[in-house]
Amino acid sequence: MANYSLAKSWQNTPVAARIIRLFLGVTFIYGGWNKATDSGFLDKNSAHYIGAQIASYLDTSPISFILKHMLEHATLFGWLVMLSEFAIGIATLTGIALELAAFGGFLLSVTLWLSATWSVKPYFLGSDTAYAILWLALFFLVRQNTKGRHVTALLPDLHDRREVFRLVGISAASVAAVFAGSKFRAVTPTPETGTAIAKLADFPIGSTKAFAAADGTPSVLFRTKAGVFAYSRICTHQGCTVGYDAKSNLLICPCHGAQFDPTKDGTAISGPTKIALPKIQVAIKGTDIVQI
Ligand code: FES
Repeated sequence: MANYSLAKSWQNTPVAARIIRLFLGVTFIYGGWNKATDSGFLDKNSAHYIGAQIASYLDTSPISFILKHMLEHATLFGWLVMLSEFAIGIATLTGIALELAAFGGFLLSVTLWLSATWSVKPYFLGSDTAYAILWLALFFLVRQNTKGRHVTALLPDLHDRREVFRLVGISAASVAAVFAGSKFRAVTPTPETGTAIAKLADFPIGSTKAFAAADGTPSVLFRTKAGVFAYSRICTHQGCTVGYDAKSNLLICPCHGAQFDPTKDGTAISGPTKIALPKIQVAIKGTDIVQI
């Protein structure tokens, strides 16, 4: 590692490992960027808030006893995930502490599998299992030379000053990437409460209507004898937009077939998620139906 060279780090990697390395490195940097540019990820008032995401896994995850502790420090955990994704991605592409990066990627993917995608059935529809396996494969591919002998150490040599500088460089690049992402955040409009979604007179009992919530979330409004109610149309599996099927009176996801019952609080009744659609708060005010 003392004679580090970016070109050599790729030349010395078997072709199979290069393919996996390129894909995982780019994808993890993109994952970090996605979070860094999401204005809601660290915003406690947002539906995308990391704490809200963790809370939604508590009922289904086998590691909910750990997630409960993470929930208390959700913002800090969100920062850690963002920085780790950048650091792992950059280290994977540059080949600095590659083995450690692969091991870190494996641990992160396993954690996401046990929390975010644990309830996805069948398991192959959840992507975190595939990431965990790819990181594990990369770990062993870079750990062994072509004769199958272990040729690298998992932990970088902290007595080598150049190696320490490289690790500091990775950390600094990760922090810089998070701050760069924050400059590209789309400004989330402050939800305007009281915005009219429909005129009561034009929306009789039995009506359904797609609309954009105040923060831009694609949503769907219902009016039944019980009153008015609305849900986000973002599927709780992997974020496709669900549509209303008038025949079955269900909200159905076109991607992997999740079905949600709007008459039962948006509960997921079949498909690869068990998480209900988030509710959008609406009410009748005067002659209008408004978001509150
Ligand atoms: S995104 Fe997979 S079922 Fe909706």
